[in-house]
Amino acid sequence: SRTIRLAVVPGDGIGQEVVAEGLKVLGAVLPADVKLETTEFDLGARRYHRTGETLPDSVLAELKAHDAILLGAIGDPSVPSGVLERGLLLKLRFAFDHHINLRPGRLFPGVPSPLAGDPQIDFVVVREGTEGPYVGNGGTLRTGTEHEVATEVSLNTAYGIERVVRDAYRRAQARPRKKLTLVHKNNVLVHAGHLWTRIFEQVGREFPEVTTDYLHVDAATIFFVTQPERFDVIVTDNLFGDILTDLAAAVTGGIGLAASGNINPSGAFPSMFEPVHGSAPDIAGQGKADPTATVLSVAMLLDHLGYPAEAARIEAAVAADLTERTGTRTTAQVGDALATRVSA
Ligand code: IPM
Ligand code: MN
Repeated sequence: SRTIRLAVVPGDGIGQEVVAEGLKVLGAVLPADVKLETTEFDLGARRYHRTGETLPDSVLAELKAHDAILLGAIGDPSVPSGVLERGLLLKLRFAFDHHINLRPGRLFPGVPSPLAGDPQIDFVVVREGTEGPYVGNGGTLRTGTEHEVATEVSLNTAYGIERVVRDAYRRAQARPRKKLTLVHKNNVLVHAGHLWTRIFEQVGREFPEVTTDYLHVDAATIFFVTQPERFDVIVTDNLFGDILTDLAAAVTGGIGLAASGNINPSGAFPSMFEPVHGSAPDIAGQGKADPTATVLSVAMLLDHLGYPAEAARIEAAVAADLTERTGTRTTAQVGDALATRVSA
């Protein structure tokens, strides 16, 4: 019999509520011979206020001993902006070398899209997860004077670009349309842009069946709205990927449905799965949050751990649930409905 050792980080705000439903569905979908061992970690605003810590090394070491991490949401208005984002969420992504930040953009049947017509949207954004402007490489000069300067330098390594680009080609190769779009801004960010473009072309020679395309990020935002069907797999840097995947969520039913995986394909460290949305303190504790994004993140987690059939059952349950949505349900009611469907 197999065991999944799952680290659970509910975090702040609605994180607690949506993670509870994700675990409910996970428990319902797993076959009887798979044992689920969960360890809950108290990280986020409460711990920060209590101890001043965001992510102590000892906790990082405990997390490392798990097969995967399920994370709810991080961030609270009582903590200065950036403290938990950098000290906890980004620290996890960097420490566990989650260089593949996988974010599907899929419009399920029956879900209203703000876009005109009846768009068919089914793409996946492969966002680089450990480099770019997220590395914290920068500083300030002459603070408080009228000549104050702030820099935020984007780090791009050939190693980091090549591994995410190759991963994206593999994913494109495995999909029916076999199309990969590089999104950057190589007409302005020429140093990083040319490195990305060159590596994209080089690695592409290994994948002759994959059709390639390049878009500047500003043009890509237009096509996300006017022609989302043109996208299959997209590969892009950390910041462009952050922005594009919020737009992707907006055109596919909202952030209540947007799932993500922070993946380290080598398995050297646990990968981490989380809804794209934040902690939504305005609706926290009221049972209003949609747990679907977390449930879909659990499906990605199962797929990553080698349970594709169970992942597919969750996706089918969500698809069925979405076609029948009427009225308002609580967070737990949505979780119950999905748990019932996957166990049927
Ligand atoms: C996301 C979030 C994070 C990011 C923040 C909270 C650090 O916006 O997961 O998309 O920018 O990656
Ligand atoms: Mn974001």
